[in-house]
Amino acid sequence: MNISTAEFICSNTKMEKLPEVRLPEFAFIGRSNVGKSSLINMLTKRKGLAKTSNTPGKTQTINHFIINNNWYLVDLPGYGFAKVAQTTRGTWEKMISQYLQQRLNLMNVFVLVDIRLTPQKNDLNFINRLGELAIPFAIVFTKADKLPKTKIQLQVDAYNKTLLEYWEELPKQFVTSAENALGREELLDYIETISKQYKKP
Ligand code: GTP
Ligand code: MG
Repeated sequence: MNISTAEFICSNTKMEKLPEVRLPEFAFIGRSNVGKSSLINMLTKRKGLAKTSNTPGKTQTINHFIINNNWYLVDLPGYGFAKVAQTTRGTWEKMISQYLQQRLNLMNVFVLVDIRLTPQKNDLNFINRLGELAIPFAIVFTKADKLPKTKIQLQVDAYNKTLLEYWEELPKQFVTSAENALGREELLDYIETISKQYKKP
């Protein structure tokens, strides 16, 4: 898929204020600092489109972008950021959970995980929760540029070994880097394929 236009539409904390459900939607989620906003900028080739930061907890709202006037891309706040106050965290979790369960045009959730880490408990909980809710998802390994090529597949294999303790089948997966655009074409082609299955609610 070629990206001809990518525009920010709105930031929200309330479900009723989200853009009208008229196009297929794809959301990106994962722990704080995993690289969600950077991945969005890499996919759209727009450097400052989504705000990135070294400080975890940068994205705190549901952020909608419209791509090619044809689909919505959503940058969600990260989960599992310890430094955020318990009350704020509770509010985010509720907001994300409502979004995931209520958004009728949501076609797929991309769950980002840092390829350098062993499977983290909160990621696994989140992934398993998506399964319980029957929400389609794919796993996106981020920051692959930080590992030597020979280690990448080993990390993916180790991750999958853990997933197979919970799942009979492995979800669709992408290995990516916001630094060198690894995985860009594959991920965008996947979005294009899934978009074709969209039926207006
Ligand atoms: P929150 O909004 O806080 O939840 O974080 P986020 O998941 O949106 O992460 P963000 O994109 O802001 O990136 C966090 C940090 O990781 C930044 O310093 C990025 O430059 C860095 N980073 C993100 N992706 C990559 C990558 O693929 N490779 C490398 N080397 N660094 C990356
Ligand atoms: Mg972010």
